Amino acid sequence: MTPDPSQLASEKRHAAAAALRWVRDGMLLSLGSGSTSAAFITLLGEAVQAGQLRVQGTATSLASENLARQVGIPLVEPRRGLRFDLAVDGADELDAQLRLIKGGGGALLREKLLETASEYFLVIADSTKLVPQLGRFPLPLEVVPFALPWVMDAVEKLGGAPMVRTAKADPNQLYRSDQNNLLVDCHFEVIPDPERLAHQLQNIPGIVEQGLFIDLAKAALIANGQEVQVIRA
Ligand code: 5RP
Repeated sequence: MTPDPSQLASEKRHAAAAALRWVRDGMLLSLGSGSTSAAFITLLGEAVQAGQLRVQGTATSLASENLARQVGIPLVEPRRGLRFDLAVDGADELDAQLRLIKGGGGALLREKLLETASEYFLVIADSTKLVPQLGRFPLPLEVVPFALPWVMDAVEKLGGAPMVRTAKADPNQLYRSDQNNLLVDCHFEVIPDPERLAHQLQNIPGIVEQGLFIDLAKAALIANGQEVQVIRA
């Protein structure tokens, strides 16, 4: 059954609101990308503007950076030694072991960078994202343009069907990441061994980053109707 978009939007807001309660005064935050993260950044900005929280953040995409600026969250540039107290971000799919597929919004490289540099990574998601087995959502790869043909061949050898992502606004144009790389969405249907696939993809030259996030998330807040379920690693 296709989920009702207004119900999904409401679940995303519930998950975002629940995540706000994990933020403490003075924290340095990694701000995620996508619609659930946008709901979180907006609520966080309201709390900052109301003087309820003093926080700083670094964003995982240019879109989230612009939003953070608009809502008044002070931003910190990347620098040596920078670590985040808390990362809050959405997911395209996650399983009960908190293994994730990310990158539907094309921000997987910066997301993985900042979430790896965080003490605690909290996932926020609507009820459709929690799945018994990863793989229905096509797995995104960020790829150096020159490497594209060989990456497509290598993904096929691993049993995936790769599709180069096109721009939403113009399907005749290829989608470009914030780093100006290409995105390849790989249809596997099921990923029985995510750790193995992650390892195999990481070894293919030309893949800058792959969208399986394993051993990174410490907890997830999954909204289901009005309820928010907490899953811990
Ligand atoms: C972007 C991501 C997003 O977190 C993911 O696509 C979830 O998005 P949404 O909150 O809009 O469902 O990984 O690269």
